[in-house]
Amino acid sequence: MTNKPRVLVTRRWPAAVEAQMAAQFDVDLNRADRPLTEAELRDAMTRYDAILPTVTDRLPATVFDPSPRTKILANYGVGFSHIDTQAAKARGITVTNTPDVLSECTADIAMTLLLMVARRAGEGERELREGRWTGWRPTHLIGTKVSGATLGIIGFGRIGQAMAQRAHFGFGMKILVQNRSPVPTEVLDRYNATQVPTIEDLLPQCDFVSLHCPGGAANRHLINARRLDLMKPTAFLINTARGEVIDEHALAQSLWFGTIAGAGLDVFEREPSVPDALLNTDNLVLLPHLGSATRETREAMGFRVLENLTAFFDGREPQDRVA
Ligand code: DGY
Repeated sequence: MTNKPRVLVTRRWPAAVEAQMAAQFDVDLNRADRPLTEAELRDAMTRYDAILPTVTDRLPATVFDPSPRTKILANYGVGFSHIDTQAAKARGITVTNTPDVLSECTADIAMTLLLMVARRAGEGERELREGRWTGWRPTHLIGTKVSGATLGIIGFGRIGQAMAQRAHFGFGMKILVQNRSPVPTEVLDRYNATQVPTIEDLLPQCDFVSLHCPGGAANRHLINARRLDLMKPTAFLINTARGEVIDEHALAQSLWFGTIAGAGLDVFEREPSVPDALLNTDNLVLLPHLGSATRETREAMGFRVLENLTAFFDGREPQDRVA
């Protein structure tokens, strides 16, 4: 018997974090490492003091009914649009996330996508591996120059700023920012960036647009057919935020008709499913949600969850409470 809090970890985590977790709590691991169903999560809410979900766990209001034992959802990840935080809060359930520790690596993946799609690296690699490369020629796989181009960043939180740092200092890009609240001048000045009032102001001016805003209902299809039409036909769209921020059907049409030049996507609206219309498009780089996928970051995310959990059960305020 133990009186340690009962904790469910919904997916496999880095071994060092799982070991530390097991030393502090009465932990159940999801050894099969498959996403839990809504019914399994609802049942878990009646049996565990804490659940540690990831982006693959859907936690709508119905999962919290009728009277959960769970007191904290300590999410492994910065994005939490898969959790109905209002419903959780209404039932007295605390929700935390893991900001900061993944900003650099997520911005690295955004920059990877930007470079790959601009320089046609994905197309080139497919051509070479498939034995279709016939050798160097002046007109082969001509891409777009990144250095000195204009980058529009939608959402200027930690990850948006990490992207600006790479683009400004590494590639001499001109940075335009659209953010729901005013960004302090000293932050903009760091990257010689200019904030514009609306997305409509930003899109027509950019050679690249990178999305770093939260997902969820408020931003669903923020980038839709009308807004894609505002982009330059030579411009590229990058998404490492959440899949639902882009209307994927409208994006596929824009790529097909040349309304924009290309896109790089790390996230999708119905992961792990990717629409055929995107899979069959060449001027598109597709990655399987790799934003935070480095050994260092995934461990740091786990230890950040552990800090939140420890604070909560010690009766202290968890540093990353979002609800
Ligand atoms: C995050 O941290 O939000 C990543 O996308 C994984 O959920």
